[in-house]
Amino acid sequence: SLVPDCVVEKCYEHEGVIMAHLMPKRALDRVRQFKVKSDDFFIVTYPKSGTTWAEQISLLIKHDGDTSKLEGSHIMKMIPFIELCMDSKNPETAPLKIDEAEKMPSPRFMRTHCLPKFLPLDVSTDDPKGKVLYVARNPKDAAVSYYHFCHFIDALPSYESWDVFFEEFLAGRVPQGSWFENVLPWWKRRDHPNVLFLKYEDMKKDLPAAVKQIVEFMGKSFTADVIQKISDASTFKAMKKSPSANPDFLIKGEAAEGSRSFMRKGIVGDWKNYFTDDQNKRFDEFYNKEMAGSGLEMDFGP
Ligand code: A3P
Repeated sequence: SLVPDCVVEKCYEHEGVIMAHLMPKRALDRVRQFKVKSDDFFIVTYPKSGTTWAEQISLLIKHDGDTSKLEGSHIMKMIPFIELCMDSKNPETAPLKIDEAEKMPSPRFMRTHCLPKFLPLDVSTDDPKGKVLYVARNPKDAAVSYYHFCHFIDALPSYESWDVFFEEFLAGRVPQGSWFENVLPWWKRRDHPNVLFLKYEDMKKDLPAAVKQIVEFMGKSFTADVIQKISDASTFKAMKKSPSANPDFLIKGEAAEGSRSFMRKGIVGDWKNYFTDDQNKRFDEFYNKEMAGSGLEMDFGP
């Protein structure tokens, strides 16, 4: 089996990809057959690449910058994570998030980490129906964030050490599969009018500029003041404090600190504190090979 010993308790294999039991096959089958409407809005990412961040911004744009519209609820409740079931211990019977998504009033906002081959058929084409906001984060920082996240969430495998996780990540054997297989197809579709491809690192550099791009992509037009207001409510600091944005409040009931928080660091370049010189060299070799000819350049920080 493809499933390495270190994850066998929490994961299974689906068409050559490691998936957590939290994303059961029966949910993936439903996602694939999901009937897309032209005003559906999908936030698509590789895990730990700024999904929650993009959710906060998109919902604030949907509500024309009115932050009070998110109060009393949680963005993770407002945007179903379509491949998820509600109970990883009972993946065969637990209710599915895709059911929630199907019943939502339009425009429906959804989020997913699915590789293109697992996405709804009408989304994973070169002419996607429905809009796709894709956020890519450099894979070294995504890997470090993912490593910590695996210890934060019970439904994901805990790896013995960073070194163990690094090998699995490099082999594309972590839950949801390979970073490259997730990012590159959307990079190729970046010029399609239904696709907006953003980079986490650009959002960090100039958040109002990124917000403005998403506003236009969503067919809206806001004043600079409204764009600033949305940006201010979507910084790492603001989201960490916000009970409707910080996932800690939903998962743990309170805002946790440090590496035990979902809102862990929110910076570019933390990978330098984890990658050894040898790991970095091996990663770069693999990265250069996979990315060759794509024209996509990721920003690994200063
Ligand atoms: P770190 O673990 O590096 O801190 P996702 O939502 O896709 O799971 O991604 C989570 C990562 O995005 C975490 O990274 C989290 O801290 C970071 N993040 C969340 N909101 C952010 C924001 N407003 N600005 C910058 N980073 C943010």
